[in-house]
Amino acid sequence: VRKGFVIAVDGPAASGKGTIARALAKHFDLPHMDTGLLYRAVALKLWRWGGDPNVEFEALRACDDLGFDPGDEELRSEPVSRIASKISSYPSVRDALLQRQRDFAAQEGGAVLDGRDIGTVIAPNADVKLFVTASAEVRAQRRVRELLERGMPGHYEDVLLDIRARDERDAGRPVAPLRQAPDSLVLDTSDLGIQESIAEAIRLVGEQVGLKLPG
Ligand code: CDP
Ligand code: CDP
Repeated sequence: VRKGFVIAVDGPAASGKGTIARALAKHFDLPHMDTGLLYRAVALKLWRWGGDPNVEFEALRACDDLGFDPGDEELRSEPVSRIASKISSYPSVRDALLQRQRDFAAQEGGAVLDGRDIGTVIAPNADVKLFVTASAEVRAQRRVRELLERGMPGHYEDVLLDIRARDERDAGRPVAPLRQAPDSLVLDTSDLGIQESIAEAIRLVGEQVGLKLPG
């Protein structure tokens, strides 16, 4: 398989975009960046400081010298998810994290990035754009399963409400809202298992890359 192309993977929470992006990176031998982790890292730092997520300036300060351990389970905790959702709406925070993502996308060997605004803002010239989605009900079921697997209580109705609220915040914010890029390929995983979703994503990317980068 030819190297050096950029794959943008966007979609709402628990659509499967992270799983798919990681599998694509492995299959096509490309480096991968989970951009949600950047927002989560800012949120975690703010949380540890005891900073106020409702104050944009405090969130912006947490972007300075942002280092984090991707394996840190606290990045995925509920309070951090909530704060991440809040602080990702601030234009100054998005701006502070922009170059790091653009640089990653521009590296010589190509890259896979997943998030909300990869195909629209971070890498609008990506060779392939996937928009991964699934119904809110299916995504809520996945989240509940994840919570139970981690030994945390998950109530379906609460999780569904939270997913819907998050969708609205992601799509409704004025800066870099979650939007399907017009030139993206839609992959609805509502009725697909993990392996099926991955296989379909590899097929779509292979087809598109074959078209755009012959040879
Ligand atoms: O990155 P994002 O929040 O979009 O989703 P993810 O972390 O890749 O997937 C959320 C959960 O759904 C994980 O537990 C996946 O294993 C699961 N999943 C699934 O059950 N079926 C799929 N077709 C894709 C993901
Ligand atoms: O999968 P889930 O939505 O739970 O989380 P994530 O993808 O790790 O993203 C964490 C937070 O960062 C979410 O609230 C997203 O709205 C935000 N985010 C963003 O605004 N832009 C991105 N490119 C990636 C994530």
